Amino acid sequence: MSHAEDNTGTRRDFLYYATAGAGAVATGAAVWPLVNQMNPSADVQALASIFVDVSGVEVGTQLTVKYLGKPVFIRRRTPEEIEEARAVALTDLPDAMSENPNKPNSDASDVNRTLDEAGEWLVMIGVCTHLGCVPIGDGSGEFGGWFCPCHGSHYDSAGRIRKGPAPRNLDIPIASFVDETTIKLG
Ligand code: FES
Repeated sequence: MSHAEDNTGTRRDFLYYATAGAGAVATGAAVWPLVNQMNPSADVQALASIFVDVSGVEVGTQLTVKYLGKPVFIRRRTPEEIEEARAVALTDLPDAMSENPNKPNSDASDVNRTLDEAGEWLVMIGVCTHLGCVPIGDGSGEFGGWFCPCHGSHYDSAGRIRKGPAPRNLDIPIASFVDETTIKLG
């Protein structure tokens, strides 16, 4: 394969030019600004966003991915979980006002917490808002959602704190569907 046909990315191009440029100052001077200009944007992009294939996530299950060093729960809720979460009055929530950054000026109503209108997809940062443990999402706990075993915080099926020392609902990251089976975080 010739160099021109090699489209495996800039990494190989970079190595090629760096080696070639070592003996040719003019070439090196021309190439380095290009490389320096390209690298930060690639790095920043890699840090800022990831794409998650959710095609294998069955109803009633959860995928946990790591994003910016933290676990992110991607749960595909059952109709029962949706119904249960939507039946809860705001007045029953210790934290009724925490906002979904994807829906500015939203309260913690179930319709405001999910990624889709139907309420099937819930994406949250899997870090207890008390002291940072990772809650368990197997439906244990008293409200059918997540339970943090460290000090006993119970979250409901919308990830809202219902009982225990945690002060806030589980946080929601910037997220969106880019197609039917891919969620972009960041
Ligand atoms: S860290 Fe979760 S209850 Fe304390």
